[in-house]
Amino acid sequence: MEPSITHVSGSTGAVGVLGAGRLGDAVAARMREEGKQVVMWSRRFEDPASRPSAGRRSGDDLGAVIQSRVIFSAIPNQALVSLSKRGDLRSFDGVMFALGIDAEARIVRDALPNALVVRLSPAIPQDGGEVRSIGLLDNIARADPRVSLAIAALQPLGPASWIEEEQLYDLVTLLAGPLLTLIRSALTRTIEAGLAERGLTPAARDHVMDVVFNELTRRLRGRHDASKQAEGHRATPGGVTEVALSHSTQVSEQLGAIVDKMLGHMQRLRVPPQE
Ligand SMILES: NC(=O)c1ccc[n+]([C@@H]2O[C@H](COP(=O)([O-])OP(=O)(O)OC[C@H]3O[C@@H](n4cnc5c(N)ncnc54)[C@H](OP(=O)(O)O)[C@@H]3O)[C@@H](O)[C@H]2O)c1
Repeated sequence: MEPSITHVSGSTGAVGVLGAGRLGDAVAARMREEGKQVVMWSRRFEDPASRPSAGRRSGDDLGAVIQSRVIFSAIPNQALVSLSKRGDLRSFDGVMFALGIDAEARIVRDALPNALVVRLSPAIPQDGGEVRSIGLLDNIARADPRVSLAIAALQPLGPASWIEEEQLYDLVTLLAGPLLTLIRSALTRTIEAGLAERGLTPAARDHVMDVVFNELTRRLRGRHDASKQAEGHRATPGGVTEVALSHSTQVSEQLGAIVDKMLGHMQRLRVPPQE
């Protein structure tokens, strides 16, 4: 079906950012590093009562952000829906990247009927630099002529992996974000506990972590068939690897249960706001 809106009337080449939390700040910082002009609105700029003691305290008007052709919404999606009832945001007809996890694309699209709404999940880098993202490029986004503007606008941010189906997008963003954080945290604790139990110096921790994480990254690369083959090859020296692999089914069942809990929590976050 042909989209009814084919033009973008935003008048500035600046990139808009809604929200000055961790994610909004990271997106704005990267865009500025790449030479983009950024206009940024956050609730804390206009409501002295909600101003945090730390963090950015001043920014731009919402009206200035709406003049941008491309906006990154780094606030919960439900907050964006509420914000759309204010001023001219509802008639915004540029590209809106919705970064919240708490509402599906459909709900944000209903609130911003003229915009191209693209869900996006950026991963904040630890040491600055490019921001890698996972984006939802579903049939609605693909059929919209503004999709090329959206993809071009993301380039300064960093590389994006696009997923076509929203349920798969949710699953991938959880697996690639919170689940990896959990795995990293569990490995770090295991290393610390392993050193402590054996009376080894905690000073070895960082070096052990570097070796383990480098190996983890190396072994995780490659396709499933190659991993299966590698498991077979490694499961030899003295049966040490077999001991670990014999627990892999239980470990994957537990990780699966954790993923189910994360998805369940996401569903609870998505209870539509009562009017
Ligand atoms: N951090 C990540 O790695 C990551 C990755 C992907 C997606 N996300 C999503 O991105 C969003 C922001 O994450 P964050 O890490 O930046 O969180 P954060 O540091 O807690 O910042 C939250 C931002 O949302 C604003 N906000 C919250 N409720 C609001 C409301 N009702 N109306 C207007 N503004 C509201 C806050 O406004 P104030 O200015 O008043 O503080 C603040 O700017 C969340 O929805 C999160 O799920 C985060």
